[in-house]
Amino acid sequence: MVIRDIEFIGSFEKESQCPKLNKPEYAFIGRSNVGKSSLINMLCQRKSLARVSNTPGKTQTLNFFDINTEWYLVDLPGYGYAKISKKMRAKWEKMIEYYLLNRPNLQLAFVLIDSRIPLQKIDLEFINWLGSLAIPFAIVYTKTDKLKKLEKKKNIKAIREGLLEYWNSLPAEFVTSAETGEGREELLAFIADLNNNF
Ligand code: GTP
Ligand code: MG
Repeated sequence: MVIRDIEFIGSFEKESQCPKLNKPEYAFIGRSNVGKSSLINMLCQRKSLARVSNTPGKTQTLNFFDINTEWYLVDLPGYGYAKISKKMRAKWEKMIEYYLLNRPNLQLAFVLIDSRIPLQKIDLEFINWLGSLAIPFAIVYTKTDKLKKLEKKKNIKAIREGLLEYWNSLPAEFVTSAETGEGREELLAFIADLNNNF
């Protein structure tokens, strides 16, 4: 897929405020700081489309982008940010749950997992929660540029094994780096395929 045209639609605090148009939509979600915003910039080949930060919890709203006037990309705030108050956490959960359950055009959620570290309990819980809601998802391993080839293979294998303790099979998986652009073509081709079936 060639990305010709990107339009920032807006940042919304509630699902009810989000645009409701008849286009396929894809959400990017994962632990705070996992690299969601960076991946979106990499996919779109724009340096600062989505805000990137060293401080976890940077993205706090549902951020909508229209791509090629054909599909929506949604940057979601991350979960598992330790320094967040109980009240904020509850607000996040409500916002995400409402969003995920009320978007008929949501084709799939890309769940980002940090390839550098072992599978985190919170990622497993989130993925299992998506499963319980029957929300289709794909897995995106991030920050692979930080790993040597063998390490990358070993880490991903361990994460897969952790997931396969709960799942009979795994969905589509993408190995990516926002630094090198690894996985970009594969991920965009996957979206293009789903768009064709919309
Ligand atoms: P929140 O919005 O806070 O939930 O974070 P996020 O998931 O959007 O992460 P973000 O893209 O802001 O990236 C967090 C940090 O990881 C930043 O310092 C990025 O530069 C770094 N980072 C993200 N992706 C990569 C990657 O592929 N490789 C490397 N080396 N660093 C990355
Ligand atoms: Mg972000």
